[in-house]
Amino acid sequence: MKIQRIRALYWSATGNTKKVVRYMAHCFSLPVLEQDFTLPDARKESIVCSKEELVLIGLPTYAGKLPNKIMPFVKEKIQGNSTLAVPVVTFGNRNFDHSLAELCILLKENHFIPIGACALSCQHAFSSRLAYARPNESDWEELDHFLMNVQKKLDQGPPFDFAVPGDAKAPYYFPKKEDGSPARVLKAKPIVDKVLCTQCRVCAHLCPMGSIDTMDPSLTPGVCIKCQRCIHQCPQKARSFQDPEFLSHVKMLEAHYTNPRANQFFF
Ligand SMILES: Cc1cc2nc3c(=O)[nH]c(=O)nc-3n(C[C@H](O)[C@H](O)[C@H](O)COP(=O)(O)O)c2cc1C
Repeated sequence: MKIQRIRALYWSATGNTKKVVRYMAHCFSLPVLEQDFTLPDARKESIVCSKEELVLIGLPTYAGKLPNKIMPFVKEKIQGNSTLAVPVVTFGNRNFDHSLAELCILLKENHFIPIGACALSCQHAFSSRLAYARPNESDWEELDHFLMNVQKKLDQGPPFDFAVPGDAKAPYYFPKKEDGSPARVLKAKPIVDKVLCTQCRVCAHLCPMGSIDTMDPSLTPGVCIKCQRCIHQCPQKARSFQDPEFLSHVKMLEAHYTNPRANQFFF
């Protein structure tokens, strides 16, 4: 099978998944078509991939699975045509649980043929104390090695079968507070310091759900998926989560998940 082009697809609120998929795409000596479907406008049109492409597709792990609000787009609008693909998930040093299994199954249902897959531990969107500054040099080296094996499989041809851990039908991981009890974070939304906020509206333009009011960015009338993009991107650092259950969950993560987790590669 002669691959003519790499198609790099990703949803990436705080940039880890984008970094990983882009890095991987540029390891092949082939033209790269990059498509970032993080923003709502980028999810309006379908993405149809051909047999001549190798598709690298990345999403982060949210609550042990793929971000559920993005799933309708992935399920309904990303289509293959016996297209070879490398599913990629990132996770914030706790666990990727079922996200990679979910992505592999989804791709097969949409006429892709996964030939290798990986889960990369990256700095957690909630706290820089989890997987601080990852991906780093050694993560890139591991990715290089993985991609050599993917290239070997491409050269050898089918069968491409491999297995990944997890159960695509498993329930979402339920976040816990410091004392181990459930952290009810669904309703948490960012709080805005109105003294610091200059109304630049960067947050509103970059919200993956389009949920922040463009007239008054201190309001988030739409659904908040807690992705942290508005917090990370605010030039004034005017936004934060103050919800006590959310903050207790972050403390729990910092208490139990700071030891660097290994990346995992399957091929
Ligand atoms: C709402 C939310 C839920 C998350 N759930 C998990 C999780 O279950 N396990 C984990 O290890 N990391 C979890 N993370 C961390 C992300 O998977 C990690 O930061 C990822 O690299 C973010 O990707 P991005 O930078 O491309 O947005 C979560 C992050 C967010 C924002």
